[in-house]
Amino acid sequence: MLNLESEISKSIEKVVKGKKAHKLSDLLESLKNHDLDTYNHSIRVGELSKKALEAYTSKQFYLDYIFCAGISHDIGKLGISKEIINAVPFDDRCREIMDNHPEIGYQLLKDIDKEVALICEGHHTFQNRIYPAKLPGLNNLPTRKKYVISFFTMIITIVDAYDRIKYKSNNHNHIEGQLIDTHPQCKEMIQYLFKKEILKENKISPYI
Ligand SMILES: [Fe+2]
Ligand SMILES: [Fe+2]
Repeated sequence: MLNLESEISKSIEKVVKGKKAHKLSDLLESLKNHDLDTYNHSIRVGELSKKALEAYTSKQFYLDYIFCAGISHDIGKLGISKEIINAVPFDDRCREIMDNHPEIGYQLLKDIDKEVALICEGHHTFQNRIYPAKLPGLNNLPTRKKYVISFFTMIITIVDAYDRIKYKSNNHNHIEGQLIDTHPQCKEMIQYLFKKEILKENKISPYI
């Protein structure tokens, strides 16, 4: 576990410099103490998002970047109580509270890395039930940067939903179809990632 954490710190330091890197590592450590399942999910999402991006580019900086954004995507759950995160049944009141986590994450990350913060804020916007409804921070960016952030956000969105099906759902039938149903905007990317066998239909964990 120590090795994993030093690997994570090294990856963060390639993207975020100086004290800000320590701040991000501290936030992740807090997430680990707050809710271990969310932390483990975040690490898996970071690792698999990096693999998914490798299907499009071999640029090391981008690969480090998406790993960093992937492990940070649910950092806003630090602002959601453990009781709500793990509530069964997960009713409308829980859903309403949980829907705040992308914006809480944005607030926690915006002074550490603006782009990682925007990816975190947008990771539930490429799906049927969108939240938050608007991402004003994206509008002020140059077109190319906006495109890269949206592309990374889409990868993390797909991997996030895939991980939830693999680890939380009892329905493992036709995962590709399930993902396309809930994320129609991402259809082309989902099909490509299955074709490249980065995402897989089998029930065996793809992370080992
Ligand atoms: Fe999330
Ligand atoms: Fe997530």
